[in-house]
Amino acid sequence: MNVHDSDRIRRMIQDAGYAEVQRYEDADLVILNTCYVRENAVDRVKGHLGELNRLRREGRVKRVALTGCIGAAEESAALRRTYDIDLVLGTHNTYELAEFVGLPTMQETYTPELPGTEGGHNAFVTIMTGCNYQCSYCIVPTVRGRMVCRPMGSVIGEVENLVAGGTGYVTLLGQTVDAWRHEGKRFCDLLEAVSEIAPRVWFTTSHPSNMEDRTLKAIGERNTIVKRLHLPVQSGSDRMLKVMHRGYKAERYRRKIEVFREAAPDGTLSTDIIVGHPGETEEDHEQTLRLVEDCAFDSAYIFKFSPRRGTEAATLPGTVPDAVVQRRFLEVLRQVEQNAFTRNQRKVGGEEQIYIRHGSTEDGKAIGETWSGHAVHVNTDAAPGNYVRARIESAGPHVLYAGEADTSV
Ligand code: 5AD
Ligand code: SF4
Repeated sequence: MNVHDSDRIRRMIQDAGYAEVQRYEDADLVILNTCYVRENAVDRVKGHLGELNRLRREGRVKRVALTGCIGAAEESAALRRTYDIDLVLGTHNTYELAEFVGLPTMQETYTPELPGTEGGHNAFVTIMTGCNYQCSYCIVPTVRGRMVCRPMGSVIGEVENLVAGGTGYVTLLGQTVDAWRHEGKRFCDLLEAVSEIAPRVWFTTSHPSNMEDRTLKAIGERNTIVKRLHLPVQSGSDRMLKVMHRGYKAERYRRKIEVFREAAPDGTLSTDIIVGHPGETEEDHEQTLRLVEDCAFDSAYIFKFSPRRGTEAATLPGTVPDAVVQRRFLEVLRQVEQNAFTRNQRKVGGEEQIYIRHGSTEDGKAIGETWSGHAVHVNTDAAPGNYVRARIESAGPHVLYAGEADTSV
């Protein structure tokens, strides 16, 4: 979501006549588009602000703007007192940047109505913003607001334009895309409609309580949908899931995964897991390990709990000591990687059609994606957006390695 918002900001300031540079010292204007989901994101922003302050004193950088989720949080006031920042914008008024960079005042542009990225081989399409859940640990509803679903016609119109302009890969975006609904239509209807138009489709991110079996089946059946599901589970313990207000039990999650594995046996499954949420016991942790083993994730983002001011979890008792969090983190990581490695090994020897995401670097290796959603390093000079065929020669826990590509596909 932030990458997509940054794309839009970039296009807006380019419209105002700015050119992009690679180093702060070459910039008149620096816009930090920020994440607030965990404290390490804030630490990084503080590091950048410190450096920008120094460059400003030397007269190198002239103006600094802070946008995105930190901008929408109370903490931005404290940052403003410590650092030299000219403009702070949240997530609902980014359009005010227009005036700041000398463009005519815009109407609200950062609603889901804003046209997306054009001209790229792949593009994000926002289908909903905000989130109606209230997970104990999460700051997103505070900084992004309640769910707003974009009308189906508007999404389809954008996808049609993108495809007509040469985009071959569309990713539907939102905090809980599968909660999308509009005028009697549900997410699966939208996904199916988009998969009729776009040559390649993916979506992220989903919530287990909203994920319908028919969506999981559509992933398996439709050959334009990448068979890759990202379904954050957060914990394998029913007790913790309740404390987190996730709204489902581990058993329901396992059942969803069974449906997905049956619909797309070759597909890839990823998740998000939080370790060390307040009150997490050894027994809760064991249950997460069990769930990880049962679901055999192909990858997982594992996060150490980070207290966010203003969330319920920040006030809960039962802080888990750092050393315990670290051990649990490593245990979950090891379990995920073992499973992923075993599953990836099964791909070795097979021939795959690979979508090139990033063109080759000096070593001649490009980064692509199979229809099963595996990341592949492949020897090819094919440009991003093209397909090649290649045989998988080896596999690690995170990526597959293919041999020489055949580009005649
Ligand atoms: N601490 C740790 N991880 C968090 N996430 C969200 N909030 C927190 C937090 N306070 C994780 C969740 C979510 C992902 C995007 O970030 O796992 O799915
Ligand atoms: Fe945050 Fe996702 Fe929960 Fe919404 S569903 S509150 S974005 S973790």
